[in-house]
Amino acid sequence: MSELPRLILQDIPDYHKIDVYMANGGYDTYKKAIAMKPDDVTNEVKKSGLRGRGGAAFPTGLKWTFMPKGSDKPKYLAVNGDESEPGSFKDRQIFERNPHQLIEGIMIAGYAMDINAAYIYIRGEYHKWVDLMQKALDDAYSKGLVGEKMKETFGNNYSIDIYVHKGAGAYICGEETSLMTSIEGDRGYPRYKPPFPAQRGLWDMPTTVNNVETISTVVPILKMGGDNFAKIGAPGHPGTLLFGVSGHVNKPGVYELPTGTLLTDIIYNYCGGVRNNKKIKAVIPGGSSMPPLRGDEIEGVRMDEDSLKALGTHIGTGGIIVMDEDTDLVKTTLRIAHFYHHESCGQCTPCREGCGWMEKILHRIEIGEATSKDLDLLISVANNIEGNTICALGDAAAWPVRGFVTKFRDEFEKAHGKRSSADTLLQAS
Ligand SMILES: Cc1cc2nc3c(=O)[nH]c(=O)nc-3n(C[C@H](O)[C@H](O)[C@H](O)COP(=O)(O)O)c2cc1C
Repeated sequence: MSELPRLILQDIPDYHKIDVYMANGGYDTYKKAIAMKPDDVTNEVKKSGLRGRGGAAFPTGLKWTFMPKGSDKPKYLAVNGDESEPGSFKDRQIFERNPHQLIEGIMIAGYAMDINAAYIYIRGEYHKWVDLMQKALDDAYSKGLVGEKMKETFGNNYSIDIYVHKGAGAYICGEETSLMTSIEGDRGYPRYKPPFPAQRGLWDMPTTVNNVETISTVVPILKMGGDNFAKIGAPGHPGTLLFGVSGHVNKPGVYELPTGTLLTDIIYNYCGGVRNNKKIKAVIPGGSSMPPLRGDEIEGVRMDEDSLKALGTHIGTGGIIVMDEDTDLVKTTLRIAHFYHHESCGQCTPCREGCGWMEKILHRIEIGEATSKDLDLLISVANNIEGNTICALGDAAAWPVRGFVTKFRDEFEKAHGKRSSADTLLQAS
């Protein structure tokens, strides 16, 4: 276990402090980057095969190439640290344990795309992480590493300003277009795409939105070279991931491991197995919006996007939620549906109404007032939300509900059968 690559969460005491970070080579990779041409920096990221860590696993280098070149418009980078999805809690480890790597990653990304200013968007309730990130940024500014003074410090003509932006506490604000609306000072409503952020982003200017972990990973990529990074982990989705493991394991927490690590290895070796040696009933592999796997499906499953996609689910944010044999999956699904109903911004009818209906139907099943048609109705509502909304919150709501009902239909049938007096009444009438 000791030979595992540590690209983000270092075991060095006080690594979050600027002096310790710099004593260990911090901010030297930026020097390496500015000795290269900006396009070569982007090419290195492309070569690395880095895919976004914010949920969709989109190729990062490719995304950077969407930014217009040679334009005199200001360009922005929005760094997404909203992290409001249940089961996702890895980015705050970066704010807490390695904020300077994030700043250095922003500088490198900024140089590659000729960005004028970057906003690190952190969910409003996360006061502690907002304060820690702001402190790190203040320290970087006072050492002349960021802002106008960095030109002098690094002997280069490029400079970037970086701001910590506190969100107001809404899951929808993690969606990239809402995040930009929120930074602009409006209510966090998603916008239609196209135009994509690189065409029309913050204040209608070209913008790239990347996750906190994605940007932090750019530093080791530049340090070791894209080709070497591409050799770590799963070939189609290389590098390490910060897996946030929660639920019924003995040692929940955030584990940095190569992509492609076996799910059972994470649960049984790193997380010390399931509490009280219970069997596993279900695992959500990438945050609450992802379809679950049944306990009998997890053997041999590798934690990378391509492997999970082949099983009908996704890596998402790498937030693994483990549920033991005693978990009431009707209640779990109802709780998840409640979250998405609560967080739907209400702009699109299929999401606004559909999320409400899914919650209502699940509630009927839970209290024993469902009819025999309700399970199919639930799946039909989920199918009608998916793909019919401006942003992917609708999909995020539909996927786990459809996944649980389909994979654990017996349990839902039993719940409704056990309490089916209303059903009998309805059928009799
Ligand atoms: C409802 C919703 C919430 C999201 N929340 C987050 C989030 O908290 N953090 C994040 O990085 N991406 C989140 N995303 C994905 C972003 O829209 C975007 O794809 C991501 O920030 C891009 O970064 P990446 O390419 O580095 O992964 C969310 C998407 C949706 C639909």
